[in-house]
Amino acid sequence: MSKVHVMDHPLIQHKVSLMRDKETGSKEFRELLNEISMLMAYEVTRDLPLKTVEIETPICRAQTQVIAGKKLAIVPILRAGLGMVDGIMSLVPAAKVGHIGLYRDPNTLEPVEYYCKLPADAEEREILLVDPMLATGGSASAAIRFLKRRGCKNIKLVNLIAAPEGIARVQADHPDVDIFVAAMDEKLNDHGYIIPGLGDAGDRLFGTK
Ligand code: PRP
Ligand code: URA
Repeated sequence: MSKVHVMDHPLIQHKVSLMRDKETGSKEFRELLNEISMLMAYEVTRDLPLKTVEIETPICRAQTQVIAGKKLAIVPILRAGLGMVDGIMSLVPAAKVGHIGLYRDPNTLEPVEYYCKLPADAEEREILLVDPMLATGGSASAAIRFLKRRGCKNIKLVNLIAAPEGIARVQADHPDVDIFVAAMDEKLNDHGYIIPGLGDAGDRLFGTK
């Protein structure tokens, strides 16, 4: 069974609360998602391997640690996942970015694919699949399926807010994928929206409603 990491750092919790507030406009919403994504990236990359190198400080030669060149790819689920890319890239600027386009059919709540472009060597990279909302889990589960079909083996899912239903779906479909969330909410409403959630993440990010 995959692990669920809830990142309940006070700074993250504070910023998630600001994002939930319906009075928060698109500009501030985008800035907050960017900041939280950067804070989450710090935890998500905690297990990156290190190697020892020798350098010369102004005082002496020293053996120090640097990241052992592990290759990362950030894969946002369009649209809302785009809002998490820059924050993570600010900590890992060498990461490549792939895109998976999915929207959730409002009637069936099933994900519909409309775009997929991944780095050529995606299967050699650790993948951070990012999307602010994990509701029914249908979109995340389908995106992980596409990634696995492309040969990706090392995948982490990073969400801002998750419903228990979404966590259960991803764990059942992909027990090898660890999930990192900033907040675990109560449940879904009849339209598949997370309660209390923050509403429609894509619309709030891009001002489309
Ligand atoms: C939202 C969200 C997730 C999905 C979550 O995207 O960003 O991708 O819904 O729901 P699920 O877990 O039930 O699949 P949406 O389909 O609204 O598309 P958008 O990002 O283009 O607005
Ligand atoms: N997608 C969203 O943007 N918000 C939800 O609460 C559920 C799905």
